[in-house]
Amino acid sequence: MQKEIIQNSRILIVDDQPENVLLLERTLRGAGYMLITGLTDSRKALATFSEFQPDLIAMDLRMPNVDGFALLKQLRSRVATGEFVPVLVLTADNSRKAKQEALALGAKDFLTKPIDVGEALLRIYNLLETRWLHVELKQYNESLEEKVRERTKDLEQAQLEILQRLALAAEYRDDCTGQHTQRVGELAALLARSIGLPADHVEVIRHAAPLHDVGKIGIPDGILLKPSKLTEEEYTQIKRHAEIGKIILSGSKFPILQMAERIALYHHERWDGNGYYRLQGSEIPLEARIVSIVDVFDVITHARPYKVALGVDVALDEIERERGKQFDPTLVDAFLELQPSRGLRELGTALIQAESSQDPAKAEMK
Ligand SMILES: [Fe+2]
Repeated sequence: MQKEIIQNSRILIVDDQPENVLLLERTLRGAGYMLITGLTDSRKALATFSEFQPDLIAMDLRMPNVDGFALLKQLRSRVATGEFVPVLVLTADNSRKAKQEALALGAKDFLTKPIDVGEALLRIYNLLETRWLHVELKQYNESLEEKVRERTKDLEQAQLEILQRLALAAEYRDDCTGQHTQRVGELAALLARSIGLPADHVEVIRHAAPLHDVGKIGIPDGILLKPSKLTEEEYTQIKRHAEIGKIILSGSKFPILQMAERIALYHHERWDGNGYYRLQGSEIPLEARIVSIVDVFDVITHARPYKVALGVDVALDEIERERGKQFDPTLVDAFLELQPSRGLRELGTALIQAESSQDPAKAEMK
């Protein structure tokens, strides 16, 4: 510990005898300490403590109005948890009882009056050294905690990025921009927020929804990219993407993947019970009902190798037509409500424009 750091410490002296304050102050200044405040009225000690923020307090025990014991009690509530502000008691009362009581109240050391100047300086130096070691340790711990927080954040980001890339891998064959999955995530979050789901739930949906079609990985190109109508056999095969997605995502302990599994399995359920697994109404997990609407909206409004993009109005008409049939009526209402509030139209249009500007061929198709 550098001597200058210790000498730059702030020291508060509280003693009702002015000559005692003066003696200690002079002694400390002589030893190079410059930041010293002396008080003879202990009633001002707490206010001075807050203003001056001392690194060490030297106090008398026997004082009128507020004695040293009462002051020690008051100081305990002022010193923050984890802080170390040593109190050195200056006392003529050398009794065992007084020492024990002061120690119990947080005093760290004693000086018996009349004060031995050399001893006082050594004890003050030692206490301040301990004080600054505490400060250093606290700062070191804080910087370690900050590093751990940063690493944890990085790790979470990396995990989310891996999920995005997994979704991209699944969509790559029929949407090489990879934007469909992300748009479905954003739109699902928008709809989830609009029906009042809590913010943390909305975030899980935002990251889970893009994985809805991850099971397409297991569907052959000849079926997935077929531009003409699918045969019944081919349709049965393409329906398997829900189950394959579930298998890929199953067994995780993480909420995002658990939700992604439910969405993958049930995003082709219909409100009227005529979907892949014949779940009906609220039997279908809410997140899957949300994704089924935004997925259809996004598929209609964007081009694929086997289909052209249609306008936002066409998609909204289709969704409205399927209210209570394919889709949850309450969610359809909430989705259509998003339109006048600009969110949906702007998001849909902005995303369409962004995609068109990246790929002129697709812009022509629209
Ligand atoms: Fe799907």
